[in-house]
Amino acid sequence: MPNKSSFSREVSRTANESTSRLTISHLAAMKKRGEKWAMLTCYEQMTASVFEDAQIPVLLVGDSAGNNFLGEENTIPVTVDELIPLARAVVRGNSTALVVADFPFGSYESSPSQALETGVRFFKEAKVQAVKLEGGKRIVPQIQALVSAGIPVMGHLGLTPQSVHAMGGFKVQGRGDDAERIKEDARALVAAGVFAIVLELVPAELASEIAQELPLPIIGIGAGNGTDAQVLVWTDLMGLTENAPRFARAYIDLRRAMKDAAIAWKKDVESSAFPSEAETFH
Ligand code: KIV
Repeated sequence: MPNKSSFSREVSRTANESTSRLTISHLAAMKKRGEKWAMLTCYEQMTASVFEDAQIPVLLVGDSAGNNFLGEENTIPVTVDELIPLARAVVRGNSTALVVADFPFGSYESSPSQALETGVRFFKEAKVQAVKLEGGKRIVPQIQALVSAGIPVMGHLGLTPQSVHAMGGFKVQGRGDDAERIKEDARALVAAGVFAIVLELVPAELASEIAQELPLPIIGIGAGNGTDAQVLVWTDLMGLTENAPRFARAYIDLRRAMKDAAIAWKKDVESSAFPSEAETFH
């Protein structure tokens, strides 16, 4: 497996810079070169360091921490105070990825100054390198305020889980006439200064058209194979999530592996097979 320093060198060579952490400039260069890349969600330090070993270039401290880490039903109850320690742990656990923090529901909608306050907290307290906001035209002033302050912003269109109640459930967005709305929102985000856009649960043809039209990376999730990058929730990728969405693919059954390990250890404790002499001090 390639080590951290080889990844750092690779990243540096790619963009002819000395920094070891991937930057938004690297992503822009990859778009120009037509290189695809992967983004995973991440909520704590151990996983962040595994993803450094795996050379995952971008990590998202998603508000999906709500239903995948904090035991909530969905992303809506997550707060900035809850996400900041998770984001800080991810930044500490990984020195090569660009770390993006999600703005939780209620932390940016009121005004550009509310968004700026949230962005400043994530930058100063968690030391992330970018933030992500859900929404189109309606949040352009918020994006402009963040970008003017030097905070790189990733957009998020299509199915935006914070609006799941307004959307009437987790449904594919942008079918038929609705495609134009998503295209217009995407153009508005580009004009506002985002460096990349997540497109969630939209028809593959629409995602592909947007990726071809727009000059910045389009990151798909449930959006087919024609985008510049893909993102998955890490617990879906590792087979930990029960009832993962159809668009996700589990590459390992970690749920089963963890359960088997826990059962084996429990049995060894009950039969006194653990600890062994080698695991004992005298
Ligand atoms: O919070 C999250 O995990 C996300 C991804 C699904 C893009 O926003």
